[in-house]
This record gives sequence, structure tokens and C-alpha cells, in this order.
Amino acid sequence: MSGPVQINIPSIIFTGAGAFDEAVPQARRSGLKNVLLVSDPYLVEQGLPARIVEQCRQADLDAHVYGGVTTEPTDVNVEEGLAVFRSNGCDAVIAVGGGSSIDAGKGIAVMATNDGPLSGYAGYHRIPRPGVPLFAIPTTAGTGSEMTRVTVITDTIRNVKMMMLDAHLLPTAAFVDYTLTLSMPPPLTANVGVDTLTHGIEAFVSRKAGTMTDPLALACVDLVGRHLERAWRQPGDHAARKGMMEAASLGGMAFANSSVCLVHGMSRPLGAVFHLPHGLSNSVLLPAVTRFSVSSAPERYAILARKLGWAGEEHNASEACDLLVDGLQKLNDTVEIPGLRDCGISEEALTGALDKMAEDALLSGSPQNNPRVPTANEIKSLYMEAY
Ligand SMILES: [Fe+2]
Repeated sequence: MSGPVQINIPSIIFTGAGAFDEAVPQARRSGLKNVLLVSDPYLVEQGLPARIVEQCRQADLDAHVYGGVTTEPTDVNVEEGLAVFRSNGCDAVIAVGGGSSIDAGKGIAVMATNDGPLSGYAGYHRIPRPGVPLFAIPTTAGTGSEMTRVTVITDTIRNVKMMMLDAHLLPTAAFVDYTLTLSMPPPLTANVGVDTLTHGIEAFVSRKAGTMTDPLALACVDLVGRHLERAWRQPGDHAARKGMMEAASLGGMAFANSSVCLVHGMSRPLGAVFHLPHGLSNSVLLPAVTRFSVSSAPERYAILARKLGWAGEEHNASEACDLLVDGLQKLNDTVEIPGLRDCGISEEALTGALDKMAEDALLSGSPQNNPRVPTANEIKSLYMEAY
């Protein structure tokens, strides 16, 4: 038997239409006085942080905005946000946006109480002190970051995506309101939706999967199977958006307490080197990595194929695995996930980066959780297969 397992999820979760409007009342109930809103330039322009500022004003709370989070959050974003936090004497962070804003918010919340540097906290359980209270409001479905004790922040000096896992990164409260996702454009819906599916799959096949996380992972996969294509085709469909938002949160709860595996291990270097958004860099890799991995856990992958409705009881495990791999490629084709070749990466550039990417992938530790643990050469082949 292995040792005990630590499970972390936020202690306060609001979910469903209207959850957004619970954040400020909850801030009051929590005794907060002066919050820093962390968001990105697009949402600032759309006025979403301003809505929260107005709600804060009506509730007699001070609020300030840092709206500079980039598509993939960086150590510079954290430093800039922290400067706004400190110069205004804030006592909490409300992150509103996609995974980038929530991940940056996590970094700011812990750097407000720890001495740093941030890069010293990369890895597992290395942050000495709890951060300030952190509320997370996701606007994509999604990374599941609102539910996780994980953040991924780019070290702009070394050009590496630093993965940090620590209970101190866990949001205090999450407000999961699918109505915020109704205006997501189809390509973003596809990228983050397949990322969500990847969370469910990897959490379930991981060597760290367990009794507490399996039901969360399977519920995530089931919801994606039923709702992703419809959310992509009909952005305003409430049932589909609700299903995908719940899938994203369940996937986050699953993978943060089990782990991600080879897809995420390989996607971080790809994102760091070629600046692909997180969802896209996972989506393009999922079919090839699954094809590589199924033989080492056929029964587990077969369960996933059946959960997605792509295989039935009449198929044995090996047949179900084949159907899963085919189904994942077809899903990518249906929701128009491009191949790596169509992501603006030349074959020459990809080949030139293979050594560094394979090394960084293995260093992250995620590939070692995969059912089939690859060598550096196998990782390089998989990048080329996805091209
Ligand atoms: Fe992900």
C-alpha cells in the first residue's frame, strides 16, 4: 500500500448562473476590506472587472485593478500585480478571467506574504507561508484553475513554464458562473474544452489516480462527451455551457489531486517556446500521446472510451482503446483544432527545439505520472507525430 494522499479543494464553491454576483458579498462576509482585482486587457475592455469594482463600492469595500495579465502569465505579470497590491495596501485578491488571470492571481496572493523569488517555489510544496485570501472567478471552461492548488507561470529569463503545486496556492473561494462563458468564440471553446477533456483523461490514467479522484475525473469526461461539440456549435446554448463549466471545475478538482501526465508535460515546453496558449498546446498533443500510452493501461483507457460513448460493452479493452484514439482525433477535427503544422510553427523551428523541449518536459515530472513513461527520444517522436 502507498502512503496517505492529500486532497485540496476550495472550501467555498458557488456554482451556476449568478455565482458571479456572490463574490463581493462573500468578500464582505470574509472580512475583507480592500481587494486587488487581477484580470486581462480584453476583460478590462469588456468591463467585467469594473462590474466588480462597482459592486465593491456599493458594499463599502475598496478595490483596485491590475488588468495586465498576458495570454500565458509571466513572472513580470506577478511583479506588476504585486506592486499595485502593495502600493494600495490591499488585503486580498479576486482573480477574474481565464486560467491565465487565475494563475497570475495565485502568484500575486502568495508573493504578498512570502519573500520569493517566485522561481524558488517551482515544484511541489515549496511555498513557506499561506498567501492572502484569493477568490477565483473563471470566465472560460477551462483550465479548472479555480479549483486547483497549481499554477503555471513563465519564467521570462529562462523561458520556462514553471509549474508550482502547493496547498497555499488554493483559492479560498471559487465562483463558477457558466453565463460568463456564453460569449466565448468557438476556437477558444474548442481549445479549452479539449484541455478540460485532457484533465479528466490524465487524472484518470495517472499513476497517482485514486478512489477519491476517479469519480471526479469520470464525471468531467462524461460531461465533455455530452456537451463540448454543442457548446462549440451553439455558443449561446445554456445547457451545453453549464455542462462544460462543470466539467472544467470537476477536471480541475481531479487533476490537482491526482496529477496530469505526459500531455501536459509536453505541452508546457511547447507553449513556452512557441507561445501557444495552454489549451491549444494540450489539444494538439492529446491524440498522439494517447495512442502512445494506451497499451500500458488498456483497461483504464477502455473505461474512458465507454464513458465518452465511443465504445460499448461489446468491445474488448484493446478495441475500445483504438476507438478512443480514433475518437479523439475525430473530435479535434470536428471542433477544428489545428495540427501543430498549422499553428504557425515551421518544421525547422520545431526540430531545432526538440532537445530542449524533451528535456524540459521530463524535468517537470509530469511525464513520470503517465501510464507509459517515455524516453527523451520518444517525446521527440511524439512532437513530430503531432506536427
Ligand atoms: Fe490543462
